[in-house]
Amino acid sequence: MHYILGPGGDPIRNPDVLPTGKNMHGLDPQSIPTTAAVDVAKVVADRLLERMKLDTGSYPESIAFTLWGTDNIKTYGESLAQVLMLLGVRPVPDSLGRVNKLELIPLEELGRPRVDVVVTCSGVFRDLFINQMNLLDRAVKMAAEADEPVEMNYVRKHAIAQAREFGISIRDAATRVFSNAAGSYSANVGLTLENGGWENEKQLQDQFINRKGYAFNADKPGQMELQTDLFKSSLKQVDLTFQNLDSSEISLTDVSHYFDSDPTKVVSTLRDDKRKPKSFIADTTTANAQVRSLSETLRLDARTKLLNPKFYEGMLKSGYEGTREITKRLKNTMGWSATSGEVDHFIYEDANDTFIKDEKMRQRLLETNPNAFRDMVTTFLEANGRGYWETSDENIELLQELYQEVEDKIEGL
Ligand code: BEZ
Ligand code: MG
Repeated sequence: MHYILGPGGDPIRNPDVLPTGKNMHGLDPQSIPTTAAVDVAKVVADRLLERMKLDTGSYPESIAFTLWGTDNIKTYGESLAQVLMLLGVRPVPDSLGRVNKLELIPLEELGRPRVDVVVTCSGVFRDLFINQMNLLDRAVKMAAEADEPVEMNYVRKHAIAQAREFGISIRDAATRVFSNAAGSYSANVGLTLENGGWENEKQLQDQFINRKGYAFNADKPGQMELQTDLFKSSLKQVDLTFQNLDSSEISLTDVSHYFDSDPTKVVSTLRDDKRKPKSFIADTTTANAQVRSLSETLRLDARTKLLNPKFYEGMLKSGYEGTREITKRLKNTMGWSATSGEVDHFIYEDANDTFIKDEKMRQRLLETNPNAFRDMVTTFLEANGRGYWETSDENIELLQELYQEVEDKIEGL
């Protein structure tokens, strides 16, 4: 891996390690998605659409998607293939297994409308898989240009409206593959939260749009252009936001990059009806891929980590750094509140019961790492102040007292 994680979990180039074939586990980037990955992806895409139909009564017209580099290396392009499956486009490998041709799956075979997508690629994905961004863009354009009724082709439906709105061709309007500017990584929402002092959610949302709004265009490869108008007008149509979990070891609140790239509230701000889109997470780390709502996944995550005695006792045992890990997890939880609003208040309440109200526990935290404990207290107060956690006045008063106490302690050290 020639990347290391910087502040807030954002990848930065590791100058000590040169990029070699080893980083890709011997994988030829042009060979993904493999046929096997396409087969698995079809199952997940179908499951996602069925779940959405069950919950809302209809298929989504557009899905906002995040593509990660490491995830696509490990799965040989499963999530990339999910996007193609939603569009109803099949990758066609050549005799050497390289994928650079595409064909439309006929509507009769697809048996449902082509679903539109808005793809946000991580900076790492862009660095590793620029040819696959090209493939995706061509797939979107192919779907938009298909001579099909718009009720069965939401890509075309939206592209026609955008072409009219912006006075451009349908092909140019069919721009759905975005990432950062060259050499830039992440939306930096994680970093902003880490630094604190952000004004409001709009600041985070603008940051997402302005950093992630660089469009890939297969007709002008080699130059990603900031196209925030098309990014916003595509996000505006989204009724479902979606991500794949990278691995069984890394869950939603382990790292900041999952919420950093989550556009759920961005979409609701942009939508005409201001409704929040549905938000699902696929866990493809087990053989039997699961699709769960984001809030279910966050609850599961809190129960297995933040609120699980096995987790926090283990962390406390490992000392100074372990205590920092507990605070980091609470902060990442607040990150999800800020970007998606899908964190239940009870998660903060239970965490406050566990780490703050329990006098023995808070003494242990304070002794082990006073700075991390102060950050934890601040995070609870911030979660309450920003409206992510409603709680009793007594709880807030206790937090305020503890803040003063820990300040005094740190000053006296
Ligand atoms: C990626 O695989 O794309 C990625 C991993 C960690 C942080 C950010 C991006
Ligand atoms: Mg996976």
